[in-house]
Amino acid sequence: MPEIQLVITGDDSITLFVPSLNEHYHSVHGAIQEAEHVYIRAGLEFCGKESVNLLEVGFGTGLNAFLTLIKADELKKQINYTSIELYPIDKEIIPQLNYPKLVGKGFETEFQKLHEANWGEYVKISDYFYLKKLQIDLLFWQPDEIFDVIYFDAFAPNVQPDLWSESVFTKIYQSMSSEGSLTTYCSKGIVKQAMRAAGFQIERLAGPPGKWQMLRAKKSILTH
Ligand SMILES: C[S@@+](CC[C@H](N)C(=O)[O-])C[C@H]1O[C@@H](n2cnc3c(N)ncnc32)[C@H](O)[C@@H]1O
Repeated sequence: MPEIQLVITGDDSITLFVPSLNEHYHSVHGAIQEAEHVYIRAGLEFCGKESVNLLEVGFGTGLNAFLTLIKADELKKQINYTSIELYPIDKEIIPQLNYPKLVGKGFETEFQKLHEANWGEYVKISDYFYLKKLQIDLLFWQPDEIFDVIYFDAFAPNVQPDLWSESVFTKIYQSMSSEGSLTTYCSKGIVKQAMRAAGFQIERLAGPPGKWQMLRAKKSILTH
C-alpha cells in the first residue's frame, strides 16, 4: 500500500490522496457530493429494478457503498453489491473517515461492517444491503454474476490506462443485464472510444460540482 494522506474536500467530507500517483480518491470539490451525483443519482436511481445487482470498481474508502446502503434502506430496495479492490486501505484510516458523521447518522455500525466484512463472499450488512468485496486486480477479474448497475470508479485513465481499456469494458459489458448501465466521473475522449468499441451507447451528463461532464453508458439495443 503506497503512502496515503487525508484531505478535506469542498463539502467537508474527507478523501484520500496518493502522492506517488498524484491522485485523489474523490473530487476535491466534494467527495460526498461527487459520489451522490455520479453513482447514486445517475447510476442507482436510474435503475428501475426492485432488486439490484451492483458492481463497483474500486471499493476504496467505502463511500459509494455506504451511500448506496443508506439509499437501499430509504427505498426498501434489495442491493447485492460486489466491489473490486486490489489495495484495501489501512485499518487506521477508517475511524478518520467522517462519512457517518456527515450523512449517515444512525448508520455508524453499518459503516464499520462494510470495512470489517470478510472478503470473497456475500455478507449481510443491513436488511437491504449485501456486500461481496473481492481483493483482485480488475484486469484478472472474471465475472460470475449479471449486474444491473456499474459504478466505474478507478483512478484516472492517465494514471491507470489499462483499467479504462476496451478489453475491460468488454468484460463488463458482457456481465451486464440488457437494461444495465455504467456511470463514471470521467468523460475523456479515450474512455468514450474504449466504451463504444466495447458496444456501449454513451450519454454525457452534467458533472458534479467542479466538473463539466460525466458519462453514463448503456448496452446497445440491437433492433434487427
Ligand atoms: C478512485 S479510488 C475509488 C474510490 C472509492 N470508490 C471510494 O468510494 O472511496 C480507485 C480505487 O481503485 C483501486 N485500484 C487501483 N488499481 C486497481 C486494480 N488494478 N484493480 C482493482 N482496484 C484497483 C484503488 O486502490 C482505489 O481504492
